[in-house]
Amino acid sequence: AATPAVRPLVVLVGPMGAGKTTVGRMLAQAAGVGFRDTDADVETRAGKPVSEIFVDDGEAAFRELERDAVVTALGEHDGVLALGGGAVMTPAIRDALADHRVVFLQVGLADAVKRVGMGTGRPLLLGNVRARVKQLLDERTPVYESVATHVVDTDGRDAADVAALVRELL
Ligand code: S3P
Repeated sequence: AATPAVRPLVVLVGPMGAGKTTVGRMLAQAAGVGFRDTDADVETRAGKPVSEIFVDDGEAAFRELERDAVVTALGEHDGVLALGGGAVMTPAIRDALADHRVVFLQVGLADAVKRVGMGTGRPLLLGNVRARVKQLLDERTPVYESVATHVVDTDGRDAADVAALVRELL
């Protein structure tokens, strides 16, 4: 491949919750250079958030957009460049990263989970949040039932309806 015209000062890689975007912005500010995030580039190209790309078009389509966005950014951005957490799983991206300064922001499980919070906007975490909620429901439902005198089904009901149902029990 031809040598890019410009090169990023540094490329940040690492898992979701490593702080690539937050750290990258600070780093760019301190260094007096621009910051670019390939997730944002993908969103601009697709005209919608990453979470919607996954839902509407699937992960494979996202990875193609991501590959193009990363390769383009590597060739034209001279500041700090943050990649999405899964970008390095695409072989063409790994190839494109050769000869660049690439910093891996490492993070342990506990801190990563803490930083991603509800996983909002991170489609790959949706299943995990769901699994966790399921686990809690399975564990605790018998306990709630054991302490309850009444049960109100809230499924498909808004808060006002649920409140009205509870009032009827009083
Ligand atoms: C992903 C990480 C996300 C985003 C997409 C998939 C991954 O980027 O690209 O949701 O596969 O780890 P961040 O690491 O910036 O959250």
